[in-house]
This record gives sequence, structure tokens and C-alpha cells, in this order.
Amino acid sequence: MNPASDSLVARPEIKKVLRRVLDKVVPREEEREFIKNIAERVRKEIEDSLAEIPVPFSVEIHGSFAHDTWLSGDRDIDIFILLREYKPKSFLEDLLKIIENRLPYEFERRYAEHPYLHAYIDGLEVDIVPGYSIKNKILSAVDRTPRHTRFLKQYLSEELCNEIRLLKAFLKGIDAYGAEIRTQGLSGYACELLIIHYKSFLRTITEIAQKPRIFIDFTNTWEEEEAIKTFRRRIIIIDPTDTERNVTANLSTQTFLKIKLASKLFLERPSTTYFFPEEKNLSEKILRKSIRERSIILIQLFIKEGVSPDTYWGQAKRILRKIRQFLKRMREVEVYNYEITETRGRIMLFLELNTKELSRYKKVLGPPIWASSKNILDFIIKHYDEIGPIISIGSRIFFIEKRSANERSIAEILKNFLDTIKIEPSFTSISVHDNPEEIVKIILEEDVSGKLYQFVTGKPPWLPEI
Ligand code: UTP
Ligand code: MN
Ligand code: MN
Repeated sequence: MNPASDSLVARPEIKKVLRRVLDKVVPREEEREFIKNIAERVRKEIEDSLAEIPVPFSVEIHGSFAHDTWLSGDRDIDIFILLREYKPKSFLEDLLKIIENRLPYEFERRYAEHPYLHAYIDGLEVDIVPGYSIKNKILSAVDRTPRHTRFLKQYLSEELCNEIRLLKAFLKGIDAYGAEIRTQGLSGYACELLIIHYKSFLRTITEIAQKPRIFIDFTNTWEEEEAIKTFRRRIIIIDPTDTERNVTANLSTQTFLKIKLASKLFLERPSTTYFFPEEKNLSEKILRKSIRERSIILIQLFIKEGVSPDTYWGQAKRILRKIRQFLKRMREVEVYNYEITETRGRIMLFLELNTKELSRYKKVLGPPIWASSKNILDFIIKHYDEIGPIISIGSRIFFIEKRSANERSIAEILKNFLDTIKIEPSFTSISVHDNPEEIVKIILEEDVSGKLYQFVTGKPPWLPEI
């Protein structure tokens, strides 16, 4: 019998793993009380501080705390200020200013579709997000949130909430949780809807493991084919509160495939490592040896101050894509693997290539033998001191010519290429390194060798020993 397809009747070793995970991620009464008290206190403080504004409003708690789908130890409270009448968006900013001035916390401004506040209060991450709650109108992305809570509350039970916790913890463990550009994974809301649809964590990952794509529409408004053409994602979940929107709009194919691989492996080799990957460290010796022996290049993108993560991650990923396309066009170069990671004020891009240097000699192609005699002669005169003329199988005339050291160095070629692409608005400068000692020095200085475990060994930190 194929264990994966039989996993709905959970095998004892899977059950055991899931019990151990639940034991860690389901919050106990004490923690619930603790968070509830702080959340309610801050909610009330915000409400009071806005008492004088000339618009009816409410201050509400939404997100995973309101849904009871949060993970123990992962304390994030989402507080929404919802206006009942329309005011321009600048008014939302005014609300934030009032709160910043009147409440005794240290706030940080963050930006999604419009600005919101973030504070760290009594050990909790608190997001304070302004929006509108006006009948039948969606004026900002935030306005769907209360509708999400209303929809979820109809369907969620304690049992389903815990299945959602399993799914969130699994995705977190494999770094596929969250819709932000850095991750391009599944949001909390997407997890909640997947579990409402499939009823359990195991069923959900079994579907993901087996199916090439997933389409869920609680509203029955879309034909699957039509939805695939419109939304172009491997997982499509029509938002039950807004039929024009796909909840998983930010899921990249790459992240989907990672979730698929982890699901397949988990069903065959269940372990808590998927949920709680161990911090793995590389010894300096292995790091040094790998970087010396293999063809590894480091590119650093220095982030301009005040730019939001979604912006600079988006741009960093675009730059990575351009580099890969550029190297592919060179034909001689293959990118085996890459890693992109953030550390103090910069994005580090590691590339492992088949080589750091182009071949010593290159082919310089001339006209085909069918070209005019004059063209052919001009080409031969120009390159006469090199090796040639030779006729290629494709019947073109060519010479073999020596490359200079600079011409051979892929790091130099990349430097020149990066000079031609736009690094505004996210980055102030870019540096390219191919000297192993220099790369190791930067890795040690920036203390990122733990983050490079997967890049160097190829093994994701969540993979159990097989
Ligand atoms: P959060 O990002 O805090 O997620 O967004 P969450 O559902 O509370 O999950 P965790 O446990 O903190 O990780 C809060 C609410 O904002 C809306 C959803 O309604 C969510 O419940 N939201 C957020 C979205 O609709 N889409 C997003 O990409 C992010
Ligand atoms: Mn939240
Ligand atoms: Mn939040």
C-alpha cells in the first residue's frame, strides 16, 4: 500500500508527530489571557485617543488572534480602526499621528497599501491599521479584513483552528508562510480557507503533494479554467468575501513547489523537523573549503534607508532574475543554485555557477560562406592575427581568439552588466565578489553562515535525516 495515499487515516508515526507539534503551538489558557488583556487594553487606549475625531468609527481586533488561529509564542495582534464614513486617505494618516502623539509606545511607521503603525508592546507585536467599514464598499485592501473574520467565524471550530495551526507551523518551518514578497508564500487567511475546505492538515498537504494545482471557490462563481487563465497561480482560492480576488495572489511557483516537495517528504518521512527546523551551523572550515573549491559569487545590494521590505525584496528578486537571464544567454555559464538573504542594511545574493571564469579562448563568428566576397575578406583582414579563418559546421567563418583576464572573469562581466541596470529606488550601490577569502570574510563579519547552511549543503534545514 502506498503510505502517502493512505495518510488520511493517519499512520501512528504521523499522529505522534502532529501531537507533539500541537502540544507546542496550541496556546495555553494563561497565554491567551495574557494576550487578551494587553490586546483589549491597547484597543481601548486607541479608541479613547480618537474620541474627538468627527467621524463615527470602531476599533476592532481581527487577524489570527480574533480567529483563534495564532501560534503559541508568536504574538501578533492586529488592531483595525474602521471609519464608518468616507474621508480622504490623508485623514487615515492624521489618525496615526494622533495615536503616535497620545499613546506611550514607540511606534514605527510601516507601509502596505497605505501606512499603518507597528509597536512592540509588553512583548507583543502590535499592528494598528486604519481603514473603512462602509456598507458594500471596499475603499482600501484593509476593508476586507472584518469580512474575513465574519466569514471565518461561521465555519471555525476548535478542532479546525488547531488544524490551521498545524498548517501554519508547517509552512513557517519550511519558510513558505506569509504573502510578503520576500516569501511569496501562503498568508494566514489562505491557510484558514484551505483548512475550512479540506478539513484537516493532512488532507491539505496530501492534496498539495498529489495535485498539480488547487482550485477552491466557496462562492461557486468561477469556472476552474477561467480562474486559471485569470489568476495564473498554482493554488487559487477565490476570496469568499470578494469574488474578484484570489487570496493566494502572491504565491510564487517556486514557493508552491517547495511546499509540494515538503508535503511529499513529510508524508513519507514524518518528523517535527518540518515544523521546528533545527538551527544548523556551518563550521568555518567547511564554509571556507566549499567557497574555495566551488564557483561561488557574492553580490551585495545595499538598501537605501526608509524603503519598505516589499519594495526592496521585489527589486532584489527582479535583479536576480535579470542576472540569471543574462548568464543564461552567455551559454557557457550555468547557475546551479542561488541563495538570497537579508542582513544589516543589505541583501546578499549568492550564486553557485559551473565556473567563475570563461574559457581562455573564444569563438568570434563572422559572415556565412554565402556572404559577398568583400564582406568575407573584410572580416578576415580584421582578425588576421588570430587563429583562423575556419569554416564552422553552420558554414560561418570564424576565428579563435584569446580572452583577456577581465574578459574571462564572470564577476567583472557581472559588474559591467549591473552598471547598465537600474538599482533605484531600493539600493544605493552594488558590490560583486568572487575572491573566496573576501567572501568568507564578509560572511563571518555579517554572521550569516547559519543562513548559508542550505546553500552550501543543499539540504533544507527542515529536512529530517533520511
Ligand atoms: P496578518 O498578516 O497579521 O495575518 O494579517 P494573520 O491572519 O493575523 O496571521 P498571523 O497569525 O498573524 O501570522 C491580519 C489580517 O489582515 C488581512 C487578513 O484578514 C488577516 O486576517 N490580510 C493580511 C489579508 O487579507 N491579506 C494579507 O496578505 C495580509
Ligand atoms: Mn496577525
Ligand atoms: Mn499582523
